[in-house]
Amino acid sequence: MRIFFLDQSGKPGGAELCLIDIAKPYSHRALVGLFADGQFKDLLQQNHIPVEVLATQTIQVRKESSLAQGLKSLKQLAPLITKVIKKAREYDLIYANTQKALVVGAFASFFSRRPLVYHLHDILSTEHFSQTNLRIAINLANRCASLVIANSQASKTAFIQAGGRSDIVEVVYNGFDPKIYQTDESDINQLQQLGLQGKFVVGHFSRLAPWKGQHILIDALAKCPPEVTVILVGDALFGEQDYVKQLHQQVADLGLENRVKFLGFRSDIPQLMAACNLVAHTSTSPEPFGRVIVEAMLCGKPVVAAKAGGVMELVEHGLNGFLVAPGEPQELAQVIITCLQETEITATIANNARTTASRRFDVATINQQIAQLLSHRF
Ligand code: UDP
Ligand code: GLC
Repeated sequence: MRIFFLDQSGKPGGAELCLIDIAKPYSHRALVGLFADGQFKDLLQQNHIPVEVLATQTIQVRKESSLAQGLKSLKQLAPLITKVIKKAREYDLIYANTQKALVVGAFASFFSRRPLVYHLHDILSTEHFSQTNLRIAINLANRCASLVIANSQASKTAFIQAGGRSDIVEVVYNGFDPKIYQTDESDINQLQQLGLQGKFVVGHFSRLAPWKGQHILIDALAKCPPEVTVILVGDALFGEQDYVKQLHQQVADLGLENRVKFLGFRSDIPQLMAACNLVAHTSTSPEPFGRVIVEAMLCGKPVVAAKAGGVMELVEHGLNGFLVAPGEPQELAQVIITCLQETEITATIANNARTTASRRFDVATINQQIAQLLSHRF
């Protein structure tokens, strides 16, 4: 099957990293069309997946954009849509990864008469999107998509609650290659470079954005013993520079400069996770899926995560990780202290997590699920 994948971003967010694994099995007859240039294009090329940047200018519309802004951007989209329609005729299927790709993909599907798949990586609710964007996404999906792949039950439920058709939506989790997350002793040497020897290291792996809640972890750290140290891995991918400033200010105000390290965007996630004693996920709005949680599990690291959205499908409190109420630094600090003190129980929980995550999220199985969905419907 020849697939034309579409993705709005040039930057490697979770939805884009997921797409690499999905596109790989089809790479000999596929194309990934991007609406922006950037590091994501390089990653696709490294994985031998054909890629082309299709847009010549940045698309201004954001998740919270109004109707007027949306209409303005539709004008901007015209040359891109024309290009996509032309290219789509060379493929059997259009696979839109996230919202802007859905908008462009819907037009292309209509004019090129090619079926459309929409991979939904978001919880379509007003917590994350403007009413206008919600309505556009639901209407286009309902009218134009033959299949919606939701990254979790939580994303599927939100889609249906927002008016999405239940007969076209299926849940497929993100897939991972467990081998990539098997690290060895030499990886722990990362610690030496980072100057973290003898510390209890809590890692946070996520783009810097207010709803990812890095500020909650910093507040929690202030309530933990001095040997607890935090590494923040990730960068502001979508222009959240004010939040980055706020985080640095918060660290300074709390006098935590020696206990918080900002490492920026990194490509050596498994090695850095190997250097951690605990991985914290702190999103303040429901996380649609949460790749970092599964990655930490595959690295054999205990995880504490914010109890909302797709996270509740990944973590069972006390069995394969810890859950805390979102936005509650006190509760988070308590779990960090428990992990620091109860090392044996925590290690057992992390081992359980590694075993079950390797089975549940194996990329080979996940890719089979997608292949089956595509072959049954198209
Ligand atoms: N990630 C990365 N480098 C970083 C920070 C994060 O490669 O510096 C990866 C992380 O390993 C995960 C993805 O980015 O695979 C983030 O996906 P997630 O689903 O956790 O959140 P998203 O940012 O997509 O909402
Ligand atoms: C999105 C979501 C994230 C999810 C990822 C992959 O970026 O925010 O929760 O893990 O897509 O599906």
